[in-house]
Amino acid sequence: MKHTLISSPLQGFTDFRFRNTFQRFFDGIDIFYAPYIRFNGKMEIKPIYQKDLAIKNNRNANVIPQVMTCCADEFIFAVKYVLSLGYKELNWNLGCPYPMVTNKGLGSGLIANPEKIDQILDRVHSETNIVVSMKMRMGYDHRNEILNVFPVLEKYPIKSIGIHARIGAQLYKGGVDLEGFQQCVDNSSQKLYYNGDITSVALFQELSERFPSIDHWMLGRGLIADPFLPRMIKDKTYEYPENRKEIFSKYIDTLFSAFEQKLTGEKAVIRKMLSFWEYFATALPNSQKVIKKIKKAKNYEAYDQAVREILQHF
Ligand SMILES: Cc1cc2nc3c(=O)[nH]c(=O)nc-3n(C[C@H](O)[C@H](O)[C@H](O)COP(=O)(O)O)c2cc1C
Repeated sequence: MKHTLISSPLQGFTDFRFRNTFQRFFDGIDIFYAPYIRFNGKMEIKPIYQKDLAIKNNRNANVIPQVMTCCADEFIFAVKYVLSLGYKELNWNLGCPYPMVTNKGLGSGLIANPEKIDQILDRVHSETNIVVSMKMRMGYDHRNEILNVFPVLEKYPIKSIGIHARIGAQLYKGGVDLEGFQQCVDNSSQKLYYNGDITSVALFQELSERFPSIDHWMLGRGLIADPFLPRMIKDKTYEYPENRKEIFSKYIDTLFSAFEQKLTGEKAVIRKMLSFWEYFATALPNSQKVIKKIKKAKNYEAYDQAVREILQHF
């Protein structure tokens, strides 16, 4: 079976700088979901989202924008914006688990409210011609919440439903609930994508054997941790390329330069790189040592030295 791999959006990580840098050094990702557009009471698209979605910044990747809202007017405003840029699809985030979001009935806090989901989808489909896809958890408090949403989604030509196999209350803790995901497969006739904890070729193999009807897979933290992973999944290999160190080294240097253009001051750039290293470390031996070295670096010289030391042990 041909598998489609999607870069799951990670606010603060998978912006256009990451997407372009990834595409320059790696491959295997077919679609990138952009991190969500969010409105803060004002009907406007913030410059940070405009820059992230601008076509001139996204020529090298197949990008799908995302919105997080529980308001039909905001949704439609976002639709008009992305259509004006030339995008054809908008992904709807019903997955974000943080109380600041869910307490307002957004993200995974909306899953328990199928009537509202229905009202919003009704307006979006009657007032615009956008293709809508969903990205959801299975519920906020309980994995069965999503089962009440499926009949609503069946009423609309939803392109796909990406499901992060957790509930919101879990945040990112505990394992993924594969029985819960199976329940989704059994109860929806729409196109489901799997998301959650794909961090190695072996785990991917297990998941693809367990869910033979799924051919779209979303990789989030596992992709940040190991950008070689999608190609290895597609090639069904456990072997890294021989020049792994050289490619990875160029990749992190290019990411660094991209963030240097955006951020002000050495500390801000190193902090940004540290957030990536916290993921890279999970795919490397001696992960605690790796993080310690980068954390200690207070200027570019110390950061370079730390990176060189880490790469020596690759
Ligand atoms: C730092 C961070 C930021 C995230 N930002 C978004 C986002 O903007 N939109 C979204 O739908 N999901 C977001 N997520 C959730 C991920 O896309 C993904 O669903 C989740 O991490 C599970 O997949 P994984 O185990 O492959 O990482 C975020 C997750 C993390 C850890």
